[in-house]
Amino acid sequence: MIPLVTIDGPSGTGKGTIADLLAERLGWHVLDSGALYRVLGLAATRHGLALDDPEAVTPLAETLAVSFGRGRVFLDGEDVTASIRTEDVGMAASRVAAHPSVRAALLDWQRRMHRPPGLVADGRDMGTVVFPDAPLKIFLDATPEVRAERRYKQLKEKGLDANLPELVVDIRERDRRDRTRPVAPLRAARDAVLVDSTAMSIAEVTDRVLEEVRRVFPGLVS
Ligand code: DC
Repeated sequence: MIPLVTIDGPSGTGKGTIADLLAERLGWHVLDSGALYRVLGLAATRHGLALDDPEAVTPLAETLAVSFGRGRVFLDGEDVTASIRTEDVGMAASRVAAHPSVRAALLDWQRRMHRPPGLVADGRDMGTVVFPDAPLKIFLDATPEVRAERRYKQLKEKGLDANLPELVVDIRERDRRDRTRPVAPLRAARDAVLVDSTAMSIAEVTDRVLEEVRRVFPGLVS
């Protein structure tokens, strides 16, 4: 049995940071499935495809030349780590991710990441669709206001333009789309452990998740 922890939830909950910290601590692989959808959103935009048309986007998803390595993300060999982090690409990702045929095309790629010595998988449907048998599923949530504030700080730190009220609107819109889409909507798996990070620091959330890892995989982590 190859150990696996899924971490699902909306953006701005600290999911990506927690997944990275946890994978580093455990020495496991990490799957940032949001980055996969972002790369597709970026590629589709660059090709001028109609993002809401599954027939236009699915062939691209089926042949997407994406790779991850040492914390970087590549599209056709080009380092797109920074370009996939903009709000526009996030919105494009959310739009292409709404098509069932697109999600189906990316399923095997994601499942192949479950390799020894273990995997931390971060996304929206890791525990519900991609890895429904995962022994430990975390669902991380926080209020839209706190998530927008965190995003605002991140953008400012990177020297990028940011507008807090616009970010709140964007986050609510992306949540609505991700939660109401008919296929693989953002929701907690029935057997997920719910963690509300609204009033918690990254360190507190990581400790809370590690507590669960110790409970589910005794002996794997000190
Ligand atoms: O986590 P993120 O913000 O990088 O994700 C970008 C978008 O990709 C998000 O709005 C919805 C989509 N996504 C998805 O549909 N399923 C996943 N497992 C991960 C992300």
